[in-house]
Parts: sequence; C-alpha cells; structure tokens
Amino acid sequence: MNRLIVVSNRVSVPKAADSKGAQGGLAVALAAALREHRGIWFGWSGNETETFTGHLNMQRQHGVTTATIDLEHQDIDEYYNGYANRTLWPLFHYRVDLTEYERSFGAGYERVNQRFADSVTPLVEPDDLVWIHDYHLLPLGKFLRDRGMNNRIGLFLHIPWPPTRLFVSLPFHERLVEHMLHYDVIGFQSREWLESFNHYVEKELGGTVSDDGTVEWNGRRVVARAFPIGIDYAEFMAAAESDIAKRAFERLKSSADGKKVIIGVDRLDYSKGLVERFESYHRFLTEHPEAAKDVVLLQIAPPSREDVNTYQDIRNTLEQSAGHINGAHADVDWVPIRYVNQGYSRAELAGFYRASRVGLVTPLRDGMNLVAKEYVAAQDPEDPGVLILSRFAGAALQLAEALLVNPHSSEEVGDAINTALSMPREERIRRWQSMVQSVRDEDVIAWRDDFVTALKGPPANANPRQAA
Ligand code: F6P
Repeated sequence: MNRLIVVSNRVSVPKAADSKGAQGGLAVALAAALREHRGIWFGWSGNETETFTGHLNMQRQHGVTTATIDLEHQDIDEYYNGYANRTLWPLFHYRVDLTEYERSFGAGYERVNQRFADSVTPLVEPDDLVWIHDYHLLPLGKFLRDRGMNNRIGLFLHIPWPPTRLFVSLPFHERLVEHMLHYDVIGFQSREWLESFNHYVEKELGGTVSDDGTVEWNGRRVVARAFPIGIDYAEFMAAAESDIAKRAFERLKSSADGKKVIIGVDRLDYSKGLVERFESYHRFLTEHPEAAKDVVLLQIAPPSREDVNTYQDIRNTLEQSAGHINGAHADVDWVPIRYVNQGYSRAELAGFYRASRVGLVTPLRDGMNLVAKEYVAAQDPEDPGVLILSRFAGAALQLAEALLVNPHSSEEVGDAINTALSMPREERIRRWQSMVQSVRDEDVIAWRDDFVTALKGPPANANPRQAA
C-alpha cells in the first residue's frame, strides 16, 4: 500500500471522542484517512515563532505520525488571518462584501506555501501519494512540482468553489487556478462547486472539460470530480453509545423539563447563518405563541478565528440578538435561547443531538456540513428527530429527506420549525431511514478510499520541466 503524505494548514489529530473542544470535520476525516495508510500528516503547528527556521517537529500522536512547523507572526497575519480567512474564505462563501483584497496577503500566502513546499519535499518518497487539503494550500502542488516532485499529488477542497462571476473579483485569479492545474486530481464536496470550477477553467482560461471529468489546459490533464465527504460513522456511533453520551442526553432532557429541544451546533462563523437563524426562531416564537412555550433553542457556537474582525463582529451581533430575543420572549421559568460559546466532545454532542427533536442546520453557504450528518446518525430509530437543512449546504444533495430551507427567508425557516415540531412519528421515521442510509454508506472511509483510488490512477502529469 502506498504511503500517504497528507498536508493541511492545521494538524490536529482528534483525541478520544470524549475529549472537549471543537474538532473540525477536516481533522476527524484526515485522522481516519491516515489510520489505514502508513504516512505522515504535515502542517502548521498552530504556534508562532520569532524567526522562521523550517524546523520539523515530528511526533507520533494517537497512532498518526505528524510533522509540523512553526510560522512567524507576519506569516500568520498575512497567510492565515489574511489571504486564507479575510480573502478566500469570504469570497468562496459568496461574501464579496466581506472580502478584503490586500497585496500583502497574497504575497504572504505564496510565501507560506513555498515554505510548506520546502519542508514537505524531503519527507516524500518516490511511491508516496501526496494529498493536500483546503483553501490554505491551493498553489502548493505547483510549488512541489517546481521542486521536481513527480509523485501523484491531489487536492481536496473542503469549502465551496464560487461562481465565476464572483471568483473573477480576486486579483490574480488566473495565477491561482493555473497553479492548481498542476495537481493530478482535484476533489470538491459537491457537483455544484465542481461545475463552478469547470466553468471558470473553460470560460476564463480556455481549457476543456470532457465528460469523464478530465480538465485539459495547456498540455496538462487533471481529474476534477466531486467526492462528498462523510462522517466516521463507526467511530461516531461508538461515541454515541458511550456513558458520556448517555449522561449528556439525560442532562439536556432533564433541563429541558418536557420541552422540545431545537439544537444548532456551529463554529462561530458568519457563513453558518446564525444571525438569520435567530431571526427565524424569533419569527417562529412570534407567529406561533401557542407552540413557542413548549420549545427551547440550544445554540452551541464555539468562537473561531478571533483575530479576524468579521468574526469579532458576528460574535457581537449574535450576543445582541440572543439578548434581544430572550428579553422579548422569556418568562420567569423559561428562556427561549440557550446560547453557549463553549465546545463539547463528540460523545456529549451525540447525546445532545439525540435529546433534540429538531436539528437546525442553516448555513448561508457550506461546502458540506457534517453536523447535519452527525445529527441524523445520533437519532433514536424508534423516535427520530427532524433535520432542517439549508439547501445551500453541500449536504443537501445527499440528505434530500430533510426539511430543506432557504436560510435567508425567516418565514420559510420559521414555518419549517413549526412543521418539524408537529411532524407525526411515522413521517419522521420514514425521512430518517432514508437519510441514515446515506450517512452510514457514504462515510469518511468511503470518501477516503474513493479519493485515494482516483489519486492512484494512471499517471497524468510528470514534472513540468521534464514534460515541457
Ligand atoms: O474546512 C474548513 C476549515 O477551514 C478547515 O480547514 C479547518 O480545519 C476548520 O475549518 C476550522 O477552521 P480553523 O482551522 O481556521 O480554526
């Protein structure tokens, strides 16, 4: 079996399912990918150093070999907080209004990608498969090829790819995509993002896309495909059956005191549609006062990327909104929104999901959204809850039996909350059965195997210097 060299911005090997803290879907997925393949997971340590040295810190953590480097303050500022999270993240989530275009960010982004290339190259042996992840590292494949790497190199993008009309607002957009065309395989979360990418390559770069998904441009051939990511179903179910999950279930049930719980769990990020979600819930409370007193919304939102101003803004806005709604509707023995800024372990979340009649997952735009899948997996088969899901999340293509909503319409989401709360058990079971099948079958193991098989495919791109 080929070794796998996984490269991502962060290296965060998930600890036990009962450990606290927000664990992104990416971390769980990559640890699962590396569990079966020998190999190395390379990335930024998350630490800052005075002067960049490129020193590799190699460790063995929970069965996975990791190699990390520290970055300088300026690197973190321009690459991570800057280009990745002030430029690409908002733009790729269709928020041109929040996108900042600073030349220094672009320069820092390329500098750090070059540093990654320098550090990764000596770790790679001739038969290794190199698998790069996410928007932080889009040009890395090109920089590895520049260093003579002939290995199969793939990229998986965990977030959306924007429509061409938005993407062209990025200065030097051609350069970014031309660099990406040095991969052998590029994977997207859904057909929608894949189609936007292909459209860009055809319209702006004059490349061609054949029916089998091969993109051809300037003598290069790249397989571009959708590989929808899933949860680690077996691992999640083991966590869901743990004592910790059972205690969390009891804790939420008893504190809800017979009321139906609506749950939302999201990183505190403007793409998750939390302001709009609170507004929709407010609308539901106002328009259905008879049903309102029987429910409580638990919104768990651990803070994220706190050095970026848009994240500080959204936090302030949500605090005001939760305060406003609670002030307007609360009674001496009831508060309509429990707004919680801490993270919980996967086992605790599994218990909370199972104790909740409604899962409210309403991002304005999301590559996939694994909370939706975890909510489904955690349900009691005899008495499952209802998933309300944004049609703008990649997961909506697989979870078509959720109540699909437009998260921008507080009327539509408010109505869906009312429908979900009164949905008969037979209908809840029918919808859940169809969804859980896809969550179980299209899990992270299937995703990894599918991508790795594509990555192993026939050689397409030799070192450009040799191919030229
Ligand atoms: O997939 C989106 C993503 O940016 C991952 O790359 C990342 O691990 C996760 O969200 C959490 O974000 P951050 O690493 O910026 O805290």
